[in-house]
Amino acid sequence: MILLQTIDLSKRFGDTRACDGLNFVVNEGEFLSLVGSNGAGKTSLVNLISAQLTPDSGRILFEGKDITTTGVHERIKAGIARSFQIVNLFDGLTVFDNVALSIFSREGKAVKMGSLADHDQDVRREAIDVLGQFGLGGKSNVLAGGLAQGERKLLDVAVACALRPKLLFLDEPTSGVSTRDKTQIMDTVSSVVRAGTMTAVVIEHDMDVVFRYSDRIVMMHEGLFLADGTPEEIRANNEVTSILLGAPLSA
Ligand SMILES: Nc1ncnc2c1ncn2[C@@H]1O[C@H](COP(=O)(O)OP(=O)(O)O)[C@@H](O)[C@H]1O
Ligand SMILES: [Mg+2]
Repeated sequence: MILLQTIDLSKRFGDTRACDGLNFVVNEGEFLSLVGSNGAGKTSLVNLISAQLTPDSGRILFEGKDITTTGVHERIKAGIARSFQIVNLFDGLTVFDNVALSIFSREGKAVKMGSLADHDQDVRREAIDVLGQFGLGGKSNVLAGGLAQGERKLLDVAVACALRPKLLFLDEPTSGVSTRDKTQIMDTVSSVVRAGTMTAVVIEHDMDVVFRYSDRIVMMHEGLFLADGTPEEIRANNEVTSILLGAPLSA
């Protein structure tokens, strides 16, 4: 079943066609990787879908409903969440409170300052659960600003997952992260997808990671889709491999 669909979606910046008439389809329950060199338009596409950017033309459908003109908060409420290329945490709050805040905001609960989840056992339990899933249980009381780079990325993904989205976009969740943290991030996201509760679209440069975890891979280049297929199909596509290795396009 199609979860999200864009129809002829376009966005330019001056003369740059960041997204050039894209027909993007995300199927329910899949782990999809969006790949392509820097400047391909990957982040712009996600920004259009999460309402961080307004398209010049085209439409976006989520669960069959046209959401093209809805705002950021409405899209989050509909079940679309995303992380950013640069982590987006409250550095002055603890690891625990960052996750608790995400759960609170999902539930639409009023947030009292102090320790956020002190008075809500359900939120407490769930936050502990999420932190355990991401291997951050031992860091609950550390300030987010005091975490190492890999742990910050982990927490950023945990915060996005705590929104319990139907569709989660992760923009380079493993960049600048150790192999161990990379595995932790991807294993956890993929296990949530495999449990049937979430669909994931991940922008990722590490092709080992892409091939290992993806059901489907979509490759972008200069605002266009160049390839769309299973890991086996993409691996066998010479045009794709030459671009990924930095060789110029022949046509
Ligand atoms: N806010 C912006 N203003 C001007 N140009 C932008 C902006 N955002 C992206 N671009 C340009 O659009 C193209 C696609 O960028 P982006 O979507 O960030 O690519 P990717 O995420 O694949 O690296 C690039 O040429 C980039 O320079
Ligand atoms: Mg990007």
